[in-house]
Amino acid sequence: MYRTHTCGELRISDAGKSLTLAGWVQRIRNFGGMNFIDLRDRYGITQLVFNPQHNKELTEKSAALGREFVIQVKGKCVERSNKNKELPTGDIEILVDELNVLNASLTPPFTIEDETDGGDDLRMKYRYLDLRRKPVRENLLARHQVARAVREYLDGQGFADVETPHLIKSTPEGARDFVVPSRLNPGQFYALPQSPQTFKQLLMVSGFDRYYQIVRCFRDEDLRADRQPEFTQIDCEMAFVEREDVLQMFEGMTKSVFKKVRGLELPAFPRMSYDDAMMNYGNDKPDIRFEMKFVWLKNGDEDVVGGKSFKVFDEAESVIGICTKGCAEYSRKQLDELTEFVKRPQLGMQGLVYIKANADGTFKSSVDKFYSSDDLKKIAEKFSALPGDLILILAGEKARTCKAMSELRLEMGNRLGLRKKDEFKPLWVLDFPLLEWDEEEKRWNAMHHPFTSWRKEDDALLETDPGKVKANAYDMVMNGVELGGGSIRIHNRKNQERMFAALGMSKEQYEYKFGFILNAFEFGTPPHGGIAYGFDRFCSMVTANQEGIRDFIAFPKNNMGRDMMLDAPGDIDEKQKKELGLK
Ligand code: AMO
Repeated sequence: MYRTHTCGELRISDAGKSLTLAGWVQRIRNFGGMNFIDLRDRYGITQLVFNPQHNKELTEKSAALGREFVIQVKGKCVERSNKNKELPTGDIEILVDELNVLNASLTPPFTIEDETDGGDDLRMKYRYLDLRRKPVRENLLARHQVARAVREYLDGQGFADVETPHLIKSTPEGARDFVVPSRLNPGQFYALPQSPQTFKQLLMVSGFDRYYQIVRCFRDEDLRADRQPEFTQIDCEMAFVEREDVLQMFEGMTKSVFKKVRGLELPAFPRMSYDDAMMNYGNDKPDIRFEMKFVWLKNGDEDVVGGKSFKVFDEAESVIGICTKGCAEYSRKQLDELTEFVKRPQLGMQGLVYIKANADGTFKSSVDKFYSSDDLKKIAEKFSALPGDLILILAGEKARTCKAMSELRLEMGNRLGLRKKDEFKPLWVLDFPLLEWDEEEKRWNAMHHPFTSWRKEDDALLETDPGKVKANAYDMVMNGVELGGGSIRIHNRKNQERMFAALGMSKEQYEYKFGFILNAFEFGTPPHGGIAYGFDRFCSMVTANQEGIRDFIAFPKNNMGRDMMLDAPGDIDEKQKKELGLK
């Protein structure tokens, strides 16, 4: 037996036991001729003691150990005189009688402790060492717990886990496909699935009724903290359901996972229309842990700030403000920082207008030249601003201004400590537009994907005014993160063809790409709908980790889509290229 116990389990009640431990040398300390070693395994850390008075030879042998050596020790569990309250095993130590070096180690390139001196790239290159560190390991173990809780819930609800292929033809979700050349079919390519969307719908045609899969998806898109080129979805589909059934089922799943993994009762999930989300937060995934809603000072014909010779407002399509509580004392420097924030190229605003509602009831603004004290008071009333509040205003083209103000709102939420890490505010966002206009391509795109159905009452608009059609789609949003999205699907050929046509596809194009699903729809397809959660994002949310989803993926890629450990992607040899018909 390599070990009788793990490094995390021994307590004072074990004192007196003879036992065997195995693990990695995390730290060696010499103290008054004795060697103390922190021995680590997945379960924790136990202190080993090599005492020359107890065994001189062994103590000398232990001095030759280095960090990350793998060792086995036999010895006795004894009470410590100097207890460590920080460690669960801190009441005891092992007085060692036998030491076996199972494997030596090179000096690791960074310290393998909770706090490390290793930079990002180095830790990614030696990911297998980084995974030895407790915080990283705990994230992956939490992922396992979340997966288990998800499976328990869905199994309990009669969902069947069915695997779908990875070498397929494109399933569009709005990103580029990763493609795989086919050796047996020279010049032809498979696509890796962006999601199993079409397959899960076909499983409904097959009568599976309730399907789920925790499944890898592949999307060739620009990467960010919450986006990886390969990521995992909790993918689900149900037959004979309406929107309400899906929302209830997955509200239940979300609550059940938070309860099982965190012991937390989530509040009821409020619902918000896409239009309201955009008007109040400028964003379809609002963080509702705090209010600070948009106030529109100019929107189309409605204009409460125009006609004062202030060109920036007069010429803007939209003028939007937010009221930040108790910030009227902000210094020049703080206001400059906020101005720089909105002027960054990603947001591209020209500047930031502020109005301070001073504690003495007067107003001070950056546009005093154009607006009298009375004007400012009237504007402040729109915000229900109280003395001590600061109003921040942006002006410009509508979509851009919305986006910038939405970012500024989040920034102010951060500055004011309103985005609390351990507070969870779930939200269903509903009634998305079915289509969005692609200015570059000059055509309509599906906002979710082309299999999403639309509201019955909007049916006639699909051909006449497609931008007005609302989809039977929903997003699960929490703390400003889109955790999942889904829809009730189109389930007959005629409507699916109308949708493809609305997207500007010719009959030949959609027959070639999606003939299989159009055909399937003619063989008795039940009404159906579903949802997919981003599993990596869900794990990151459940554990309140704010560093991004990479921490929850055993071997993630960096922002350039590279695996630093494998040094992938890389070249392939000429022979392989030839076989694949790539040369
Ligand atoms: P959607 O494209 O909204 O829907 O994806 C579902 C969820 O997957 C997560 N997600 C990602 N996570 C990490 N990295 C990425 N690159 C990434 N892209 C998406 C998000 C998102 O909410 N087939 C539909 C679902 C359906 O209609 O049932 C789909 O894939 O959390």
